This record gives sequence, C-alpha cells and structure tokens, in this order.
Amino acid sequence: MRTSNSASARRRVVAAAFLGLAVALGSGLTAPALAADPATLSGVILGVGSNETQRIVTWYSSADTAQQVQLAPTGALVNGEFPASAVTFAASGAANIATSGGYNRHATITGLKENTAYSYRVGSTDGWTSAYAFTTQSFEGDYDFLFYGDPQIGSSGNLAKDQAGWVDTVNVSLAANPNAEILVSGGDQVETANTEAQWDSFLAPTQLKSYPWAATIGNHDVGGKAYEQHLYTPNTDRSGAYYSSGTATGAQSGGDYWYIYKDVLFIDLNSNSYATSQGGGGDAAHLSYVTDVINQHGGEAKWKVLVYHHAIYSPADHAKDADNKVRRVDFSSKFSDLGVDLVLQGHDHSYSRSYLIKNGAKANADEQPGAADVYPGPGGVLYVTANSSSGSKYYDITSPDTTGTSGAGNGADPLDAGKYWYNSVQNQEHVRSYVKVAVRSDKLVVENLRSGTCAAPNAAVELGKVSWCNNTDAAQPVGSVVDKVTVHPFHGDGQDIQVNVPNAAPGEFGWTIDGYNGLVDLGTAIDHNGDYFEATGSINPIVVSDSRRSLAPWSISAGVGDFKDAGKTFSGAYLGWTPKVVTAGAGAKASAAVGSAYDDGGQGLSVSRGLGWADQGHARGTAKLGADLDLKIPGTVDKGSYRTTLTITALSS
Ligand SMILES: [Fe+2]
Repeated sequence: MRTSNSASARRRVVAAAFLGLAVALGSGLTAPALAADPATLSGVILGVGSNETQRIVTWYSSADTAQQVQLAPTGALVNGEFPASAVTFAASGAANIATSGGYNRHATITGLKENTAYSYRVGSTDGWTSAYAFTTQSFEGDYDFLFYGDPQIGSSGNLAKDQAGWVDTVNVSLAANPNAEILVSGGDQVETANTEAQWDSFLAPTQLKSYPWAATIGNHDVGGKAYEQHLYTPNTDRSGAYYSSGTATGAQSGGDYWYIYKDVLFIDLNSNSYATSQGGGGDAAHLSYVTDVINQHGGEAKWKVLVYHHAIYSPADHAKDADNKVRRVDFSSKFSDLGVDLVLQGHDHSYSRSYLIKNGAKANADEQPGAADVYPGPGGVLYVTANSSSGSKYYDITSPDTTGTSGAGNGADPLDAGKYWYNSVQNQEHVRSYVKVAVRSDKLVVENLRSGTCAAPNAAVELGKVSWCNNTDAAQPVGSVVDKVTVHPFHGDGQDIQVNVPNAAPGEFGWTIDGYNGLVDLGTAIDHNGDYFEATGSINPIVVSDSRRSLAPWSISAGVGDFKDAGKTFSGAYLGWTPKVVTAGAGAKASAAVGSAYDDGGQGLSVSRGLGWADQGHARGTAKLGADLDLKIPGTVDKGSYRTTLTITALSS
C-alpha cells in the first residue's frame, strides 16, 4: 500500500517537472516586443542531427525575435492542436546578409524515440507555422538513405523548370522509398550562392520538412552565406582551415561536419578548399579532420561514408580538372588507410561508380567493368559520382588520355578503352537520377535509379542545352536501374558483438546505455596454437539509476544467443565476463564472473547472468556498471565475422 502511494506521488512529480518546462518557456514569450511584432517565418527545412535521436530545423524569420521548435508525438495532438506537454527547443541564429534580408534561426531537436510519428512547428506563442511531421524508425539495424547530385537550381536559366525537375525527383524517389531515412546532398543546391529565389525553389519539395537533409557545400554554394543561413549542420568545425578563404567570418560558407546515423559514420567535407594557397588549410586540413573523427568515432559505427562535392574519380567535363587531380592524389591513400567504405560525390553532373580504389590505383586488376558484387580487401574504397537530380545541367562523358592509370592520371581502362581507368561504370543519358544506398548488416547496396525520362520536367533537354536524349519509357522508365553494385565488407578475422537494448522504462528505477550504443568490437581473435581462439573487450557501460523511496533491491542481468555469420555459428556459451562497478552508487555491487564454456564446460553467457545488483535498503543514486568480456572458442570454428546480441534485463521489486 505504501509502495503504491509513493509510486503515484512520483508520477505526479514527473508530470509536474514536464509541465514546468512548458511554463517557463511560455513566460519567456510574453515579452511585449514579441507580442507586438509577430515574425513571418519561411524556408523551414529539416536537417540531420548528431545522430538518429536528433534533428535540426533551420528557417528564416522576418524579425529578430526569440523563437523555438515545438515538438510532440503526433498521437498527442488533439484536433491538430499541440498539447500542453509538447516540448520546445530554443532556437538561435543571427542576422542574414543584406541580400537575403531578415534573420536565420535553427534549433536542435533531441531525445527522439524510435518508431514514433512526430509533429513539429516553429515560431513562438505569438505565431506558429503550420505543423509538419516526421517519423522515426528503429534506431538499430538496416536502413536506406538517398543521395542527390547537384540540383543546382537556376543552372538551366529557367528557375521554374529546374524546380519542377527537382520536385519531381524528390517525389519519385520518396514514393519509391518512403522509408528512406536521410536525404544526402552531393552539393550545389543552387546555381548562384546568394540568390534567394533559387533557394526558395530548392526548398519547394514539402518532403524537405519531413526527411532530414544532410547538406553538402558545392562550388556554386560556397560564394556566399546563404548556404550556412539555410542549412545548419551538426558537429560542424568552422575553423578557418575548412574555408577556402581561410576564415569563417568572410563572405563564404564552409566548414566540415560529421554525424552518425545508426551504423554509418558520415563525414562531410567542404571540398572547395583544397589548396593552402587559397587561404585555408586545403586537403591536409580535411585529412586531419577525417582522421580525427574516425579515430574518435569510427568505432561507434559499422560503416564510414565520406561526402563532398568535387568528384575525384568522375567521367565527364570535370574529370581532368587540375584541382580534382590534386584532390585525387591528396585523398586516395589516406582514405584507404582509414578504412573508408564509400565516398559520395557530385560536381560532374554524370554518373560513375569506380572500381575499388586502393592507394590511388585500382585495387584488383581483375575487377570487371560493371561487376554486380565487389569485395574490398583492406584499403579498397568505392567512389560514386551522382548525376543531376534536377535536370538543370548535364555534362557529357569525356575521353581518357595518355596520362597514366594511377594517381592523377586519366588514362584508359585496360578492360574497356572507352572509359577512364578508375571507373567501373560511367553513364550519361540526359535524364534525372538519384542514388539509393541500402545499409545492411553485412553489405552496402548502391543503386543509381532514374527519376525522370527524356520528357519534361527535364530542363536541360527542354531548353536544348543538350542535343540528344534517347531513352524510351519502355526501356528506361522512371524507377529503372542504371547501375547496381553490392559492396561486401572486408571482415578479416574480426569478431563483433552487437548490443541491442530497449528504451529505459519510465519511473525512478531505470537503466540505459552510457553514451552512444556503439558496436562492441572484440577485434581479431588470437590463435593459441590452433587449440583455441581468444578475444576480449568490454561492454558499453550501463547506467543504473534508482531514486525510489522503497530502497527495494534491483538487479541487472544479460545473456547472448549464438554467434552467427551467415550460415556459420557457434554457441554464446563460449563468451564469459567479469562484471565490475565502474562508478559506484545506488548500492551497486558487481555480480560474479562467469567463465567461457571452453574452460569450464558450463553455459557461459548463453543463459542470463548477473551483471550487478543492490540489496534492500541500498542507497539511492546512480551507478555505472561494466563488464570485461572474454571469448574463448575452439580452434575448429570457421573463419568469419560473427555477431551476437547481448540482451539486457532489469529486475526490481
Ligand atoms: Fe554542379
């Protein structure tokens, strides 16, 4: 009875705290200046956040007022009205440049839950925009993202036609892939950096308010501040080194940024800066940035994807550009060394998919043109260049020369003399297309898909900017595949263990993973004279919080299923652990160590085992629990990259 009463009291406390947040923000909005002058808001676009639990919303405001993003689960809205429990995220921003006028605002939405439909709006109590919606999906496992080359709105000279093609590609691509989770930019959102009419056309697709756009800066975006005003990005380093002018405070946009979305670490570079003679840090600064980000965060993701505008292995007008030859020499070996899986590029308004490139040369001389499956060994990197997603401009394929088949060379492919040595597939049909990347646990599937035909909307064709277009609706319809390749990752002899956990239950007793729930990588097992393999590591620490008045006991336990790699398997009983209290609190004690079945013939972690616990009457507070893992398996287990899932259970009376 007493327990029941205190539980309901605690629930009231939680609710009151939540309301308190809304009240505090509400009172801040009653400033007279805000009430007197409601701002006109425009250009709302949803962007990626630091990870899948975040989104960044960016917009323009006519007035320099305090503004927010308001968010609520769509299911909590009543007759379209946001509930009192809606949360708000304060916006920040600055005055726009004179030609843009007004002000820019952005706010980061944090704490999103998976598999949830959300509604949001921006503004203040003096006036909100319409409600927009987005949906989160599972925060673990497979997903698709889409990649769009150079919309470059305004490039054809006919804004309406460029916008029509861009809107159609977004419509077609998301109708075919409604569950795609991110829209990745190849750069050149617009033709003329600070021309707001072009930005209005770029922002026209309503889906840009529902699917997060991962901005990339192109050479047409760089020459003004409108790019930064419209597209705020997470984890962005705005040091002068990442601006070709050498300073963020000048007239240019720039910066490098990164984010993790589920199992992919994305690093996005301002490739406009490539030589220190321009004033910034050039390619050396980018390589230092990529190295640092991968060293710090590479272990949190399964895949590493780089994105920048200037394609270094492309098939058309820009293939032989002097600046791209510089980047080609600067980048390739380092990307190989860092284990980059995929590089997404734009700028050449044509499609290409490289051979696997290692240290500036074709990794495997035997890789055939157009191979459906590729198998990067250590250092093999796939480079993809996207064609125009809007139809505003296409570049035709150009011919190889005699400058060689490695490094900065643009020589012919020995297997197909019409192509550049580095490209497996080159394509230009003068139709719009986009790239779909399917992220799967053991492969990346990259497809280039047609989003248009020769028919309108196809600005460059309609306006006679190109002289031919031969596709037929029967042979190359919208949605048909230009190219498809499956990248099978290099596993070595590594063995991974993956941890999936549910969300912490509400209430005073709960647990969660400390920080980002990255893959627990046990690395490569050590062979002990053919008798057995051994690998060690540590679980991601688990934070337990208990503030209940009852001081009731609690325990955390966990176990694993079989380790699997495709059809191969071995028992989870071979995994043992030694629990430990990393940070004391909440009366936490570490549970007893459990050995591998290889040593003691027991069940190891194949049955649920204690990680930590506390007695009745323990202190209230928070503890961090960890465990050292010890995997010892028979020498008869086949080579492979095996994974299992640690399932965590909490018990409390
Ligand atoms: Fe472009």
